[in-house]
Formats: sequence, structure tokens, C-alpha cells
Amino acid sequence: MADTAVTSDDQPDRTTAGTTATSSTAAAAGSTQDRPDAVRSPGSPGDPLVVLSGVQKHFGPLHVLRDIDLTIHRGEVVVLIGPSGSGKSTLCRTINRLETIDSGSITIDGRELPAEGRELARLRADVGMVFQSFNLFAHKTVLENVTLGPIKSKGVKSSQAKEKATQLLERVGVANQAGKLPAQLSGGQQQRVAIARALAMDPKVMLFDEPTSALDPEMINEVLDVMVSLAREGMTMLVVTHEMGFARRAAHRVVFMDAGQVVEQADPETFFTAPRSERARDFLSKILTH
Ligand SMILES: Nc1ncnc2c1ncn2[C@@H]1O[C@H](COP(=O)(O)OP(=O)(O)OP(=O)(O)O)[C@@H](O)[C@H]1O
Ligand SMILES: [Mg+2]
Repeated sequence: MADTAVTSDDQPDRTTAGTTATSSTAAAAGSTQDRPDAVRSPGSPGDPLVVLSGVQKHFGPLHVLRDIDLTIHRGEVVVLIGPSGSGKSTLCRTINRLETIDSGSITIDGRELPAEGRELARLRADVGMVFQSFNLFAHKTVLENVTLGPIKSKGVKSSQAKEKATQLLERVGVANQAGKLPAQLSGGQQQRVAIARALAMDPKVMLFDEPTSALDPEMINEVLDVMVSLAREGMTMLVVTHEMGFARRAAHRVVFMDAGQVVEQADPETFFTAPRSERARDFLSKILTH
């Protein structure tokens, strides 16, 4: 475990709701920094949509999330980067409660994540998630993969679900693959289907955990292009990726994590050209020379 350059001592007081939380959490990653205005989506002033406040998480003795304060505003695209094992996937997974937290709070659109039951299912539907491995149902067609969620968990009529799925498959550029099984598609096509499947639930926020890292190089851009267009359409997104091109094209803010902490955050240009912390500089020198 690396030493900790940012201590919780320099975190401002936290509250869990309203604008006080927004301003304090926005400054929390580095209270000594002037954080540039992160919210610049056209037409979207961006009220807080996902708010993590004082989140702590252990796996046994391992302290994986250390006092995380993070606010993602409506329409904002946040890129989360950091070394392997720093807690990026765990952080994403806590947002739709695939992982529980020890303490702190997570709210989505002003509502605390419920522990279980129907409420949790409903709130989960607000959070679309796309993983590194596409996780499509192998024995269902592409179209069925996209219609299943809305039909089963939202009670949408089959005909309506199909119509919407067809539109979404068109939007991600794979409408002509609708009748195939996932294994008959390339990795890039499968990942675009996974994005369409998540969008079919009408999520308020989309989480992407290294969506292109399992892809052959020539397929990375076709997935990133879909993500960039989603970003431009105003989707709220948290994206774990080391694709700096994507961060520069689409992100409002880069959040750098190390050893379970948010160490630094800034707009992409500032972060990539003038990182403030030694840990971020060290990390960037490694991924740049990789
Ligand atoms: N279910 C689990 N049980 C125990 N430890 C876990 C579990 N999941 C993750 N960890 C540990 O928690 C730490 C954070 O893991 P996490 O997967 O969140 O890191 P990451 O930043 O996503 O890394 P990578 O870049 O390699 O994907 C790691 O030390 C990991 O080994
Ligand atoms: Mg990970």
C-alpha cells in the first residue's frame, strides 16, 4: 500500500445533501487546489446527480476506499484513472451497490441507495454499467439482449422494447447484427451492444469500467466514438479508462485515484499537462511511456 499524500485532515467538512455537499465535495480531492469549473455541458447547468460522501470500504483488512468524496453533476463526464488496485472498479461498483460500503453515503438524484428489495432494483435501473468483459447473454440474440431488461424489470411491452432496441442498435452502429448471437460479433460490436443494452433501461448515469481494455486496437475507436457521442448528447458518465484521447475529447474532469483515495482532480488538459501530485506525475510517466 502506497503512503498517503492526501490526508483526511485537509478535507472540508461534509454534509450529505444539497448545495453545501456539492461545493464541499467538489473541492474535496485537493482542498489546496483551484479546481477549474468542471461543469460545462452545453445547456446543462448540472445539479449533483451522484454524490459519494465520506465513503469507506474494506475487503477484510484491506482498506480499498478511503473517505471518498465525489460529486458527479448531471451531464458531466468524469474520467477516473489510477494505478491497478487503487479502487476504481470498487468505486464504480458501489454506485449501483454491486458492492456495499462500510460507512459514508451514496445518493443518486438526491436519494440514498437502498440496501435491498424493489427500491434497490429501481435505483439500479438508473445506473447503467458497461464492463470490460461485455457480459452479454450468450444464448440470446443481440436484439433480445437489449430488450430483456426493459421487458423483465420495467414491464415494457415486447413490441415497444423491440422498437426502442432497434433504434439503440442503430445509434451504436450494429443494427444489422440484431438477429445474431453475441459470439458471432467482434469484440467492438459486442461492446457497442452492451452499451445499447445499458441505454435501453433509460439510465440517469452510465458507468464504464475499462470498456475498451479487452478490445483489439482497431476496435477501440469504434467504441470510444459511441461514448464520445453519448457524452456530447449530455449523458452523465463516469468512465474508468486510461484512454487519454477520450478524456481529452469528452471529459469535463479527470479524477485520479491511488491507494483508495481521490488524490487529485482537474480538467483533462490541466491534469495531463500539469499534474500537481507526485503520485499523479509518477503514474502518468508510466502510462505515457508504456
Ligand atoms: N471482492 C474482493 N475481495 C477482496 N479484495 C478485493 C475484491 N475486489 C477487489 N479487491 C481488492 O481491492 C483493491 C482494489 O481493487 P479494484 O478492482 O477496485 O482496483 P482497480 O483500481 O479497479 O484496479 P485495476 O486497474 O487493476 O482494474 C485491490 O487490492 C483488489 O485486489
Ligand atoms: Mg478495475
